[in-house]
Amino acid sequence: MVRSRVEVHSLTGLEFARPAVAIPPEDTKPDAAATRRAEAGLLVSPSVLVTGASSGIGAATARLLGDRGFEVFGTSRDPDSLGAGRADLHWIAMDITSEDSVEKGVEAVLHSTPRIDALVCNAGTGIFGSVEEVTIEQAKAQFETNFFGTLRTLRAVVPHMRKAGSGRIAVIGSLARLAPIPFQAHYSATKSALDGLVQALRNELHPTGVCVSLVDPGDINTAFNDNTPFGNIGASPYAERIRRCEQVILDSLPKAPGPAVVAEVVHRALTARRPRVHYYAGPNSGSLPWLRRFVPDGLALRFIRRHFKV
Ligand SMILES: NC(=O)c1ccc[n+]([C@@H]2O[C@H](COP(=O)([O-])OP(=O)(O)OC[C@H]3O[C@@H](n4cnc5c(N)ncnc54)[C@H](OP(=O)(O)O)[C@@H]3O)[C@@H](O)[C@H]2O)c1
Repeated sequence: MVRSRVEVHSLTGLEFARPAVAIPPEDTKPDAAATRRAEAGLLVSPSVLVTGASSGIGAATARLLGDRGFEVFGTSRDPDSLGAGRADLHWIAMDITSEDSVEKGVEAVLHSTPRIDALVCNAGTGIFGSVEEVTIEQAKAQFETNFFGTLRTLRAVVPHMRKAGSGRIAVIGSLARLAPIPFQAHYSATKSALDGLVQALRNELHPTGVCVSLVDPGDINTAFNDNTPFGNIGASPYAERIRRCEQVILDSLPKAPGPAVVAEVVHRALTARRPRVHYYAGPNSGSLPWLRRFVPDGLALRFIRRHFKV
């Protein structure tokens, strides 16, 4: 027999009030995730949807949230390609550049759980090249994933959270919005655009019980650069400076901390009693926001030029 009841549970001070939830019969063998949730003292787990959970920051976040008692739904454009080594979570096929794919993905989550308590908009890509050489089509494609992809996901999930009267959202930005990377102008611009989106949305959602934060990581050692097209710069009028800048970027990521440092901060954003608007994670996350606040822009840009050797 399947029982149902209203559950209220708390994760580090955050309470998720859930509607009647079907509880499986007591003789059902618990799965590994259920066992972890039981060990964390939770009767019903809050659910979280993490976009781009197949790799890097999304994968580490999905793993950590699962370990901390969340029921995790993670997306990949092609979950089947991840093979046997893929993490133990509910996989959802989703391409955030497609409205239809995002809607179907969110529908699939809501087919398995009555509500989405938390959302991590993490999926994103990079692009490299000078402002005058990257084509408008390439620039649009970059915004299509990083900005409009996040916007599509928010538009699909927020109405459900608003109707439920609660929800927590972490959008993954980048410190590149505070220190725009030369020859990664389009990437940096998508992350600045996300900041505007998050701050305006936060005020729109103020009376609804749904809260959104931006989490800006610095350099994190993931496959991000492998997935970023660096292109052929041989004929570029900026070739020499692009090469030096590219080298700084390629050298810095392998020395950077792993994605678990971001996952911890995302967990904090999702479970804080009063989440902050901005969270920062990884290298320079202490100094950069301070620098941009107190150091004149011209001087800050000089530091950035020197750092990237341009
Ligand atoms: N690594 C860093 O230094 C760093 C620093 C600051 C901010 N960030 C941000 O952190 C986020 C994750 O980056 P990462 O470093 O973890 O890179 P990554 O290892 O390359 O992971 C990117 C993830 O995004 C997913 N993705 C890409 N395009 C997608 C699309 N069109 N639809 C759905 N999913 C898509 C990929 O999933 P599939 O390929 O399986 O679909 C993958 O799981 C990005 O937003 C990035 O801008 C990274």
